[in-house]
Amino acid sequence: MKIDIVVGGSYGDEAKGKISKFLVANNKYDWVCRASGGPNAGHTIYHNGKKFITHHIPSGVFHNIQSVIGAGCVINPKSLFTEIKELEDQKIDVFSNLNIAYNAHIITDEHVSFDVKTDTIGSTGRGIMPAYRDKYARVGMRAEDVPELKSFLIDTVDSLDGDILIEGAQGYNLCPDWGKYPYVTSSPPTATYALHSLGLPAQAVSKVWLAMKVYDTYVGTRQFQPSDEIFNQICSVGNEFGSTTGRARKCNWLNLSSMIKAAKANGATDVVFSKVDVLEKLKRFAIIEPDIEFYTMKEMQEFIEDELSVLNSNIVVHWSSSKEFV
Ligand code: IMP
Ligand code: MG
Repeated sequence: MKIDIVVGGSYGDEAKGKISKFLVANNKYDWVCRASGGPNAGHTIYHNGKKFITHHIPSGVFHNIQSVIGAGCVINPKSLFTEIKELEDQKIDVFSNLNIAYNAHIITDEHVSFDVKTDTIGSTGRGIMPAYRDKYARVGMRAEDVPELKSFLIDTVDSLDGDILIEGAQGYNLCPDWGKYPYVTSSPPTATYALHSLGLPAQAVSKVWLAMKVYDTYVGTRQFQPSDEIFNQICSVGNEFGSTTGRARKCNWLNLSSMIKAAKANGATDVVFSKVDVLEKLKRFAIIEPDIEFYTMKEMQEFIEDELSVLNSNIVVHWSSSKEFV
């Protein structure tokens, strides 16, 4: 067994979907899995020249690879079936490739309305918090309790083997334990939770890809974006609008010390920084913690690579533009 994991090192929206899609297209995985969150995630995927946005469904289905929604995820069956139909209408074979952990929890209509009514931190309004609350209160409903999901169910501990890709969701700063509590989501977006969620052994991990952007974005009610005009420009040049909710993302310079902590805690072997082209277009290159402005992208890249090599001299750093990966 060999496992690669893609995780977010910031606040989500670091192009995990694009990295996963690239890895799926260039490796022979037997399984592609989602391990945390639910329809709060929005993975933007380009396939055969078309743009797709998925919420529950792993990107393996685009390449006819068995795909799994893990036990640590939450599923809204109604939105899952809408998503399945949208993909099937575009000739993506979801029915023969989708598997669901029997013990994944279910988001109900009540969860969604409670989330929308009571939210104060700027949640995606998808019922995530109430679904996890009920899971841990031991009153939740699981995939095995929903007759419509029966044909998809598996026990991941028994079924998963071979080469496995786990696609993370959200990002380290949204972790209920290690993120900016209480402005967080309700399942850990880490490599270790991903293994736990799928019932996989830690020693089988091969690579951990930490997804980042060259600047940070965040969606929620926490103070985040400074008042300077440059951050509005990053938002518009970077097209920083949520793929799930359409909300404008708040922008700031990359927080380097926070990223290094995420790389350390996740055991990153590779770090991918996307959206290099956005800062190049605006000709501004800066980081916070430590607070430094650079003259060129190259200077900023060298600084970041040096800092990461202090953490681990074997870390591979990749730089990519908005559309391409490596
Ligand atoms: P929830 O996960 O819907 O409860 O939202 C909690 C916080 O996490 C909010 O600030 C959301 O904007 C953020 N969040 C949740 N999922 C994502 C994601 O996939 N991308 C970016 N932010 C997310
Ligand atoms: Mg997203």
